[in-house]
Amino acid sequence: MPVVTVTSQNEIAIVRVNNPPVNALSHAVRSELFEACESLDKDDTIKAVVLICDGRTFIAGADIREFNQAPKEPHLPDVINRIEMSTKPWIAAVHGTALGGGCEVTLGCHYRVAVKSAKFGLPEVHLGLIPGAGGTVRLPRLIGIESAISMVTTGKPISASEAHQNGLVDAVAPDGELEAFAISFTRSKMTASLPIAISRRPVTDVPDDKTSKEILAGVSAKARGQLSPVEAAASVLDSGKLDVVEAFSSERERFVQLKESEQSAALRHVFFSERQTSKIGKLEGIKTRNVQSCGVIGGGTMGAGIASAMLLAGYEVIMIERDEEAASAGAQRVAKTLDGSLSRGLISQEKRDAMGEAFSTSTQYEALTATDLVVEAVFEDMKVKKQVFRKLCDVCRPDAILATNTSYLNVNEIAASATNPERVLGLHFFSPAHIMKLVEIIETETVSDETLATGFAIAKKLRKVPVLSGVCDGFIGNRILANYRKQCDYMLEDGASPQDIDTAMRNFGMAMGPFEMQDMAGLDIGWANRKRLAPTRDPKERYVKIADRICELGRFGQKTEAGWYQYPEGSRKGIPDPVVEEIIAEERKAAGIVPRSFTMAEIQSRILQAMVSEGQKILDEGIARSAADIDMVFILGYGFPRWRGGPMFAGGVRDT
Ligand code: 3HC
Ligand code: NAI
Repeated sequence: MPVVTVTSQNEIAIVRVNNPPVNALSHAVRSELFEACESLDKDDTIKAVVLICDGRTFIAGADIREFNQAPKEPHLPDVINRIEMSTKPWIAAVHGTALGGGCEVTLGCHYRVAVKSAKFGLPEVHLGLIPGAGGTVRLPRLIGIESAISMVTTGKPISASEAHQNGLVDAVAPDGELEAFAISFTRSKMTASLPIAISRRPVTDVPDDKTSKEILAGVSAKARGQLSPVEAAASVLDSGKLDVVEAFSSERERFVQLKESEQSAALRHVFFSERQTSKIGKLEGIKTRNVQSCGVIGGGTMGAGIASAMLLAGYEVIMIERDEEAASAGAQRVAKTLDGSLSRGLISQEKRDAMGEAFSTSTQYEALTATDLVVEAVFEDMKVKKQVFRKLCDVCRPDAILATNTSYLNVNEIAASATNPERVLGLHFFSPAHIMKLVEIIETETVSDETLATGFAIAKKLRKVPVLSGVCDGFIGNRILANYRKQCDYMLEDGASPQDIDTAMRNFGMAMGPFEMQDMAGLDIGWANRKRLAPTRDPKERYVKIADRICELGRFGQKTEAGWYQYPEGSRKGIPDPVVEEIIAEERKAAGIVPRSFTMAEIQSRILQAMVSEGQKILDEGIARSAADIDMVFILGYGFPRWRGGPMFAGGVRDT
């Protein structure tokens, strides 16, 4: 079956790409496009060409699956150069997303039209690459250096109207009328002479050397160790200074080098892993339940975050709290989050109002008699959770899905306290729950496939990435976290400071250091968990008391203005605290330890090894399905650098 077909309408050829699911530029697409170009140039009955795609999107880029194979001719830059050199105008007609190589194909065309909902982007940085088919050379010639650098370094797509404003798009078509609009646009250009090819145009805003250096320094600081954004900016800047042929070959050289890099391999692993987490063989074809209304028990940090996420995804939400005061505090937290989304332009006033209508609070569990799903987010205490589940079983429909957001507790035990335990599962969100992309879906011994599949469907509606986890203390994420925190505590007692460890891990590329993160999340949940585990702890195991002593002082992190650091007057930026230094010194002395210094590399390696060894145990026990799933948990839930591919990938553990 051909993936590119050519038809004609009164001297206009319609070149149509049909390569599901996203019209990626596979070898077949490249070859057939090249051939179409050759034959249309020779066809005297044709005066112009519309390039359009079938299916859900315009060309979404190079075929990433081919990156691991030897490149085959025709290469994409040659196809695009061939289109640009055509003797007849080519008009790209774009719907969906023209991304990466797809966007570069449109830049080889002589004009670009797009429907209002279309998007244009060069997301190669997210794969550890730079545009490799002329994107960094043609884009600045069309929209200027500044806009081009923004697009290639952030990888963020722009809307058709923004693209129209900055000159990337020539005309915007109403949604649903692309083909007719493109044909009529083409007809209006048929008698005009061909516009100058974009690659032959000058770059008009080349910055001087000092400004170029500043631009690169700014991109590098934001990239925090990732190479591709810096290379992408450098390629755009070079293209303004070099002759166009040199610019193309310099871009290609950078692209090929990055394609072979460990960072790109890691980011490609992340791209595919993110899409694999929800593919669970036994759940394929299982019908999911229709969920429209959701109860949330508890309006604290997590309850309010989960309620907000649910409202933003279009669910009706009833929040249950212990008393009116707590209910009103929970409602205020939700309102603050939704108002924040409104003020940042993420939702319209109309949507905000609708969410206000869809949300209510109550102190009576009876308000939940009709809800389809309930997520419990009360205190991390088994007794309290069991009481809540018993109440839910009394009032909810017998088939209502009941989920717990517990961080560590045994979900099998919680399920056993419920009637119809096949409807009970864990939905473990991460804070702030309306932002963090990860949800661990906890599979109990008794959960039905229908309930599990519905858990995955809910995560998808919330636009989150679900990762399946078996039941164990802390599931995938918090169990590994607890293990590497132990290593941090050992290093602390042996001579490192919280700042040493936080700085090392930030330099490793983590969004935050482990102590800063604890201060942000709150030290109390971990403390409660350590107390819960104390009776079963192996007395021979080394136990560092520093964290407990900090908690005993009521220092629970940012929310109490003190934890591992101090946060005077509610500041978010912690400063080292002599109180903590003294506790550390006392504990070292009590343990008879002579403090030694740690290099940054040693700290990073100890922490990575701790993650990998616990990850391996989790795999061996069947708690996680794959090393890739563990990687996703840490990248999406704990700020592990994407460009390292996750802890298992970085530690050399790959799925076979
Ligand atoms: N190559 C190969 N497969 C791709 C692909 C690509 N460029 N883009 C998407 N796919 C696959 C996905 O793996 C998925 O496969 P699966 O069904 O087997 O899991 C399927 O297409 C559908 O993808 P999504 O689930 O992501 O579908 P969505 O509708 O949610 O999103 C999209 C569509 C916005 C196009 C999104 O897939 C996307 O962002 N794709 C990547 C785009 C990209 O990075 N392009 C640049 C590639 S590098 C390049 O072009 C280099 C050039 O400069 C030389
Ligand atoms: P929190 O202390 O901020 O909120 C708990 C809320 O539950 C309080 O508002 C309390 O009034 C309410 N509550 C207690 N008992 C109740 C009952 N019987 N009925 C109705 N409401 C009740 O706690 P947080 O941080 O929101 O944690 C909640 C759960 O989420 C815990 O199980 C925790 O382990 C888990 N979790 C916490 C994360 C975090 O980062 N804070 C991340 C992921 C999970």
